[in-house]
Amino acid sequence: MNTLFLNALACRNTQKPPIWLMRQAGRYMPEYRALRAKHTFMEMCQIPELITQVTHLPIDRFQFDAAILFSDILLLTHFYGRGLHFEESIGPIFERPIQTVQDVETLPNVSMEDYSFVAEAIRELKKKLKVPLIGFAGGPFTVASYLIEGKSVQNLKQTKLWMLRNPLYFHQLLSKIADDTIAYLEMQIKAGVDVLQLFDTWALYLSHSYFQEFSLAYLQKIVDGIRKHNLPVILFCRGSSVFAPMLIQTQPSAISLDWQCSLKQIREKVPKNIALQGNFDPDILYADKFTIQKEAKRLLDEMSGDSGYIFNLGHGINPDTPTDSVKTLIDCVRA
Ligand code: CP3
Repeated sequence: MNTLFLNALACRNTQKPPIWLMRQAGRYMPEYRALRAKHTFMEMCQIPELITQVTHLPIDRFQFDAAILFSDILLLTHFYGRGLHFEESIGPIFERPIQTVQDVETLPNVSMEDYSFVAEAIRELKKKLKVPLIGFAGGPFTVASYLIEGKSVQNLKQTKLWMLRNPLYFHQLLSKIADDTIAYLEMQIKAGVDVLQLFDTWALYLSHSYFQEFSLAYLQKIVDGIRKHNLPVILFCRGSSVFAPMLIQTQPSAISLDWQCSLKQIREKVPKNIALQGNFDPDILYADKFTIQKEAKRLLDEMSGDSGYIFNLGHGINPDTPTDSVKTLIDCVRA
């Protein structure tokens, strides 16, 4: 087993930093597009053989230091009965978004037995992988925002209207998602994942105090709920360069940073026993080879000697990223 990633998560890495990329199994890879031409995205997330195959694609091609389970943060809500599907070049759609208090009150209990395909894929992956496997879930605030908006939107107007005009029911919704998420992550842990990451992407839209009340409190609930399993937990959100001092209160193993901050300055606010991940602007991968190398070196120099740094992007890789740029980045980090 390649232990670079686990050592960095434990802030005990004395070698080069490990590298993996958020959304590393995705449309920028021709192998992914070829499979995707034959299956819907939901099929790819629900058939164990496909989950396993797609999870392996970026490891086989680029030898990343960690694999991330191929799935989606919205899969948890598939059995909420709100008509989740993914549309070509649009993204996730809920045919029946949450609009009323009754919609919140009548959300069904979900059974983790319905997710046996995820557990089966994890068990299969653990037989062959030579790198740690990351399981994941969405942050309740982000998952709730998709359930309410019904699709990807430019602002989170409907979500914020719930938050401001109906906070009690909004809390009830967040609380239900957090409880289901704990059960969902425990299922992944039982099946064998090595590390967990929570993606609360749209926390970016919250003010300081609303972040604490509507995002952080539920990340805390989840981290506390799974702490007894002793697995490393990474917290990611857009806005983490501002929210990092609050995220550390949950005592995660690592915080995954967007690209708006200097990691060196963030390190001054984050204790040495919490690892830092990310910070590379995914758009830099559109640049020429020399710019990619220059910017990667800048980041590596900044974190040089830090035993808890994991190279990653500040958000998921863009679907039209040239694969050569990914190769340039990895070669540079490895060198
Ligand atoms: O990192 C990985 O490779 C693991 C798989 C993964 C996917 N989605 C696969 C995916 C992970 C960790 C996610 C997380 C996710 N999903 C987030 C949080 C992280 C982030 O990027 O902000 C969010 C907000 C979602 C919801 C979601 N899923 C959206 C908004 C979209 C459409 C937009 C887009 O980027 O395509 C998806 C679809 C999706 N999830 C695809 C993949 C590979 C593309 C599906 C396709 O092939 O058409």
